[in-house]
Amino acid sequence: EHDATPFVPGRRARLPGLRKAAADCRGCPLYQDATQTVFGEGHTNARVLLLGEQPGDQEDRQGRPFVGPAGRVLRRALADAGIDPDGVYVTNAVKHFKFTIPEGRKRRIHKAPTLREMTACRPWLMAELRVVEPEVVVALGGTAGKALLGSGFRVTEQRGALLPWPGLGDQGSTGGAEEGISGLVATIHPSAVLRADDSDRTRVYDGLVADLRIVADLLG
Ligand code: URA
Ligand code: SF4
Repeated sequence: EHDATPFVPGRRARLPGLRKAAADCRGCPLYQDATQTVFGEGHTNARVLLLGEQPGDQEDRQGRPFVGPAGRVLRRALADAGIDPDGVYVTNAVKHFKFTIPEGRKRRIHKAPTLREMTACRPWLMAELRVVEPEVVVALGGTAGKALLGSGFRVTEQRGALLPWPGLGDQGSTGGAEEGISGLVATIHPSAVLRADDSDRTRVYDGLVADLRIVADLLG
């Protein structure tokens, strides 16, 4: 196994079929230690697709993306930017939780996925793009940005502007959906707001909202 391709249903599959098939994905080793696949969720016809990194601890337990603390920040930031949090589609570059348990501890600590793991999982994202056909894709944080734009991506330099869509589809794997994507907007990961010092948190949050306003403006 080196990627998810053998597990992705044919191009007529809709979101429920994709989600069901993704539950059995063994396209990379990450399925082994995680509880379950956390597939994307939201409106099938969403104009915005938000891409996170990977499920966190809560997401792994509940089987749904962005249901933990970072998700609460994200929903509030979307609303403050004038984007209906219930009108978007949210997913992750990698669909299984990757973690370590430090010696003598119980808590599972998130570990960043490798480029290899993101590449292995990418066929699921391509399938989601094909079904949802978003107008704008939002990369949440450096890892999501790298998943789309490659290892040279730097969130500090590229955030808050409409970037050209990189065109990921080989052999038309998104069924032409990529042509409808007007571009990519990158911003920080909402968990950066949670990690910020108390004195800095408002500024970091406001930066996230400002970047999301670019997206709101694009939607008109
Ligand atoms: N962080 C992410 O990147 N994705 C989630 O689903 C939750 C937290
Ligand atoms: Fe499949 Fe992605 Fe999970 Fe790897 S992380 S097993 S490619 S769904």
